[in-house]
Amino acid sequence: MKGIILAGGTGSRLFPLTLVASKQLQPVYDKPMIYYALTTLIEGGIREICLISTPGELPRFRQLLGDGRAWGLAIEYREQARPAGIAQAFLIAESFVGTGPVALILGDNIFYGSDTLQRAVAEFRSGATLFGYHVQDPERYGVIEFDTDGRAISIEEKPRTPKSNYAVPGFYIYDNSVLAICRGLQPSARGELEITDVNSTYLRRGDLRVQRLPRGFAWLDAGTSSSLHEASAYVQTIEKRAGIKIGCPEEAAYAAGFLSLSELAALTRQMPRCEYRDYLENQVLAEAQPSIPTP
Ligand code: G1P
Repeated sequence: MKGIILAGGTGSRLFPLTLVASKQLQPVYDKPMIYYALTTLIEGGIREICLISTPGELPRFRQLLGDGRAWGLAIEYREQARPAGIAQAFLIAESFVGTGPVALILGDNIFYGSDTLQRAVAEFRSGATLFGYHVQDPERYGVIEFDTDGRAISIEEKPRTPKSNYAVPGFYIYDNSVLAICRGLQPSARGELEITDVNSTYLRRGDLRVQRLPRGFAWLDAGTSSSLHEASAYVQTIEKRAGIKIGCPEEAAYAAGFLSLSELAALTRQMPRCEYRDYLENQVLAEAQPSIPTP
């Protein structure tokens, strides 16, 4: 399966931080925000990735992630000239997507706590797979209505009166018919090609699966100053307590088999002395092969 990371938008809700770097390049505790989305795709076994951002910001993403080869990935870049909706990503990346299925993740979404997303990628066959996450403020999101048997019966974008507390997080898996569906979309009242319209099309066709994310799973979005701070605090709390890292692409690439142990060791040696390098040396490399000498 191929993967798209959508890292567009103006980041106006993070002004003035976004005067110097886009939202998805802001730090979430100890790494750039985009690392978390990238790691989620890698954990799903996805190594062909297309990153979409604005023409102004793309050079900075290229500088950060390059062609992905260092992580055993192939990363391509495409421009979204103006923020015209999540669904536009599929039209922009059409030649990248080709004829197979595709997963899309929003660059400001952070997922942590179970392998539900990764299993959904592995088990995906056709149609569309979405997730439902219980939130306190569903009106900010796409909202799923369920019938008494727990089947999804409607999805509404930012409804005034939400029909449930289940929001749709920014991680979506589609078969190739997503391209044709997006080609036929009309912009919404806010002038965007809505991902909710794509999902409603799959729902009408009876081709939509919704998996509820378990309690204890964390889905954070980091699009406002306070949610950015909360996401950082969350990541710091878990990382300090457990002595692990969330959103570490090097570790995920090694675990997914995209990097060998010696490639990971070489990559780590190129890093400056810092906590991030210490983690890779003292946790990941040391645990993988206790006898490896740390240079
Ligand atoms: C978008 C989608 C919405 C989804 C949300 C997840 O909202 O339109 O359906 O629930 O991402 O983060 P937006 O980023 O446009 O507020």
